[in-house]
Amino acid sequence: MSWARPRLIAHRCGGALAPENTLAGLRKAAERGYRAVEFDVMLSGDGTPVLMHDETLERTTDGHGRVAETSDAELARLDAGSWHSAQFAGEPVPTFGDAAEMCLALGLWANIEIKPSRGADAETARKVALRAAELWNGSGQPPLLSSFSIAALEAAREAAPQLSRGLLCVAPPADWLATCRRLACVSLHCSRNHFSPRLLAEAQAAGVPLLLYTVNDPDDAGELLRLGVSALFTDRLDLLSARAD
Ligand code: G3P
Ligand code: MG
Repeated sequence: MSWARPRLIAHRCGGALAPENTLAGLRKAAERGYRAVEFDVMLSGDGTPVLMHDETLERTTDGHGRVAETSDAELARLDAGSWHSAQFAGEPVPTFGDAAEMCLALGLWANIEIKPSRGADAETARKVALRAAELWNGSGQPPLLSSFSIAALEAAREAAPQLSRGLLCVAPPADWLATCRRLACVSLHCSRNHFSPRLLAEAQAAGVPLLLYTVNDPDDAGELLRLGVSALFTDRLDLLSARAD
């Protein structure tokens, strides 16, 4: 399968230019000419899908404790911007619904990474996949779901088989292609540190687009794209220009 999507994807919404997984990040990506974003989705204590990378609140908000034990009302009071810089003070933790609406309004294609908290793989995937199917229903740019969790990919497939899925890993295991096929995944996403020409050749021979995270060096990005890597996730929207993408 060939890759018909943008080849540069803003990582965690706006990469390093904005607090991760926020609406401000989505605005920043669009402002910089990016047409594709990746973000992480986890369930709150009330079971609401929200944009969040870590299982705990400390690193990216002024809150404390586990996301999975925090109510929507508490999450709504948090500041998810000040940790990045004063200009983003008061930036909220977005719900998945708010982020989806903004992607649609800004014309941003989305790779939705299902990020379950411990033990919540299937439940998170089911909710995210069903909600994504609703939110993007009828849009010309359906999102791509991905996850490090095999259980999540299985549950997403069952809940919304019409949405495409990508197999996400750090280092692809030797049997990555068999796993991809078994889960009916359309793409392979792995760490740039585990890229090899051999992996690319295997992916190309199998017709599976290869996506790499996180690539921040412009020369490295240019070379990987030239070799035939389908797309790159980057934090450096300021260094990697998406205008010509
Ligand atoms: O989906 C690619 C990348 O986001 C995976 O790593 O930890 O940044 O979510 P992480
Ligand atoms: Mg991610």
